Amino acid sequence: MSDARFSSVLVIGANSAIASALVSKLLEKNPNTKLVAISRSAEPSGTSSHESQIRWIQSDYSEQSMSSICAILGSREEKFDRVFICNGILHEGEIGPEKRLQEVNVSSLNKIFHVNAFIPILWLKHLVPIIEKDLPSVVTVFSARVGSIDDNQRGGWYGYRSSKAAMNMLLKTAAIEYRRFSDNIKFLAFHPGTTDTPLSKPFQKTVPSGKLFKPEFVAERLIMLIENLPEEPALNFLDWEGKTVTW
Ligand SMILES: NC(=O)c1ccc[n+]([C@@H]2O[C@H](COP(=O)([O-])OP(=O)(O)OC[C@H]3O[C@@H](n4cnc5c(N)ncnc54)[C@H](OP(=O)(O)O)[C@@H]3O)[C@@H](O)[C@H]2O)c1
Repeated sequence: MSDARFSSVLVIGANSAIASALVSKLLEKNPNTKLVAISRSAEPSGTSSHESQIRWIQSDYSEQSMSSICAILGSREEKFDRVFICNGILHEGEIGPEKRLQEVNVSSLNKIFHVNAFIPILWLKHLVPIIEKDLPSVVTVFSARVGSIDDNQRGGWYGYRSSKAAMNMLLKTAAIEYRRFSDNIKFLAFHPGTTDTPLSKPFQKTVPSGKLFKPEFVAERLIMLIENLPEEPALNFLDWEGKTVTW
């Protein structure tokens, strides 16, 4: 499949380092693409040579904001054939990955689950009318290998691991329901690999040499993956290499 098969792209959590690289690559590959970017932040200025092609919408990610953004896009009869939900936190302020059970606390779990699992599923709830259903479409949600229950050999990181695992199950359930609306929609839970972004910054010292990726590399891999997804299953959990991650 060529890179130019997509025509209308929605990137949620667009201020993520990987999302920014993705936006640039997508527009570079297909200058005719219409791209809507959604973020908590205002549009960064002067960072992209494709600024004129990007429609940037600020959202506080309340359900009301999600619903009204999707209603406005829907009222313009816009349909998206590539959707990326990039939101995810591993640390924020006092919150950080727990090394031991004694560090687990409900307010951190609430926050991490909210960003990593609840925000993505609420977007999927409100996106139903504006996902392209008559042509091949792909919805990608950023997951993480540490969200794999099967792969968990080392423990720790209770909140991040379990919120990504919850997101995976929410995505699987939504993918089944979406299939009732259209066979044209595929879903990808994506593990980018350890990537040099603010999210991984405090944990990069132990990453083996050559295993800390640039966001641009990951963006390139992701575009290649989504344009070559198999017909079945409707939902894949893949890493940056295109290898299946066990659930
Ligand atoms: N970097 C890695 O090594 C790595 C590894 C595995 C998985 N991932 C996943 O890849 C995705 C992209 O992360 P990144 O590495 O590019 O990190 P990043 O640059 O730190 O981006 C953070 C992302 O999370 C959103 N976000 C942050 N705090 C939030 C909050 N309080 N409420 C709602 N949204 C919030 C941001 O959205 P706004 O645009 O609204 O700010 C942005 O999309 C995440 O889902 C992450 O879990 C990353």
